[in-house]
Amino acid sequence: MIKKATFLTSNSDYRKCPTPNKPEFAFIGRSNVGKSSLINMLTNNKSLAKISGKPGKTQLINHFEADGKWFIVDLPGYGFAQVSKTLKSDWEKMIKGYLTNRENLQATFVLIDSRLDPQKKDLEFILWCAQNGVPIVLVFTKADKLSVSKVKGNIQKFMATSKTIFEEAPLYFVTSSATAVGREELTDFMRQLTEE
Ligand code: GTP
Ligand code: MG
Repeated sequence: MIKKATFLTSNSDYRKCPTPNKPEFAFIGRSNVGKSSLINMLTNNKSLAKISGKPGKTQLINHFEADGKWFIVDLPGYGFAQVSKTLKSDWEKMIKGYLTNRENLQATFVLIDSRLDPQKKDLEFILWCAQNGVPIVLVFTKADKLSVSKVKGNIQKFMATSKTIFEEAPLYFVTSSATAVGREELTDFMRQLTEE
């Protein structure tokens, strides 16, 4: 478990982000999928990243430091219908610039709502990641909202639908920010990636 996490900076440009001198983990996914909630769950700090019932809460690249050894990054979501074209292209520039240029990025966690059938926006985004050499790990969120068997069924559907995108099926985790399911698994994985 992560013992202590602190907020560092909010940026719209990857070039202004903190000096890349620690392994970094980014969290991305559709607006409202639970990125900020997951970061708070992982760090055991309910007020670290800002959460909202309304989509579009996180607007910038937010850096947090965890236990003095990792950077954790909360990113703004995609697929929020009420957003103008200009904002959408700003988002693309900011996020795609960040994901393709941030040299200390160890893994990009792409969050998927475990309640839903495969969504076009998610498939488009992971296709972009695959085409741009951004390695991803999937995280199926909000698992407390449905039965274990329904979660499994939706994961299977997602894996089947996205099969053609990947040479190798991506690793995935199942989480709930309400019950802390998946916390140890995710942090163990982060540890394994950063400790030789
Ligand atoms: P944006 O910043 O707008 O892109 O959203 P986000 O992906 O950061 O989502 P956020 O963490 O703000 O959560 C959105 C809503 O989903 C909030 O009302 C959360 O309380 C709720 N939520 C997030 N994770 C979970 C979960 O695991 N279980 C349940 N039941 N609710 C969750
Ligand atoms: Mg957020």
